[in-house]
Amino acid sequence: MSFLRNCWYAAAWDEEAPAEGSFNRRILNEDILFARDGSGEVRAIRNRCSHRFSPLSLGTRTGDIIECPYHGLRFDLTGRCVLNPHGNQQIPSNSHIKAYPVVARHMLIWIWMGDPEKADPDMIPELLGLDPEKYSINKGYMYTPANYEYMTDNIMDLGHIDYLHKGLLGSEAINRAEVDVKQAGNVVHSNRLARNEILPTALEAVFQSGGKPCDRWLDVSWHPPANMVLVVGVTEAGAPERIGRTNPGAHLMTPETDTTTHYFWSNSRDFRRDDHELHAMMDQGFELAFEHQDKPMIIAQRDAIGGEDFWDLHPVILEGDAGAIRARRILRKLIRDEQAAKS
Ligand code: FES
Ligand SMILES: [Fe+2]
Repeated sequence: MSFLRNCWYAAAWDEEAPAEGSFNRRILNEDILFARDGSGEVRAIRNRCSHRFSPLSLGTRTGDIIECPYHGLRFDLTGRCVLNPHGNQQIPSNSHIKAYPVVARHMLIWIWMGDPEKADPDMIPELLGLDPEKYSINKGYMYTPANYEYMTDNIMDLGHIDYLHKGLLGSEAINRAEVDVKQAGNVVHSNRLARNEILPTALEAVFQSGGKPCDRWLDVSWHPPANMVLVVGVTEAGAPERIGRTNPGAHLMTPETDTTTHYFWSNSRDFRRDDHELHAMMDQGFELAFEHQDKPMIIAQRDAIGGEDFWDLHPVILEGDAGAIRARRILRKLIRDEQAAKS
């Protein structure tokens, strides 16, 4: 399988990059070393020495220089080889290592996996709620041994929540919700409005409707290749949306390989910001939903599919799938166009 390369992928939460040292993560099958330079900016280079391919993450860092642990070539954080301790000490021109454009934005580190000349930070999607000045933020990272497009389906079609997350995030009102799918350029909006819902327990604890019927909207925007904004909002049934409370969040899927995914998620609230008990309860709720309900299902789905192509299986398409299917088609076209432009 091939990936879209000329786009930004979420590589890590900003706090994952240590002030000193480095960490490494495989993205689109490439092992990448992330390190902050002397000014605190995150840099990304291939985690593979150009000599005999030792991982530089095993090396020694002194200032902004990393020494390969195998034969001692030294590299700076832009990937330039700056020292060859052997023989005539000349630095071969092919000894430099690939560097990747990175940008810190929305509390995340974003990486550009394609042509560096085309890396435009304005192409990073506008996420909502990732501002600690204005919101209390629950967020996390979940490694999932499954293909990222199935994880996109999971968010784009929230019709699963009354089954997989019954009583926690879902209710029967989700099944009869109005679904509205729109496309704007390459962005797909998959919006769901559930009317007259008695909120399930976890949501009642957050939104405090007092057990009264509510309208709940779950609006997802998908940005290629697999970055989604999800806004969940609640009002008393029939009341205008603008007077409701909302939880904006991000669901960002970054392929590690064809069959494994880095999943970064967030959920923000600008109400009851100092309610630490609520915050801890929400953390537990998300852990239960994502780690113990979504993830096992996505792994079971992976095993049932057994490596066959999604389209070759002629999947049944239900009304709520329209957004997910649109996203898959757009992504496929973007990858095809990108590859055609290269050849
Ligand atoms: S593998 Fe790095 S110097 Fe030989
Ligand atoms: Fe789910």
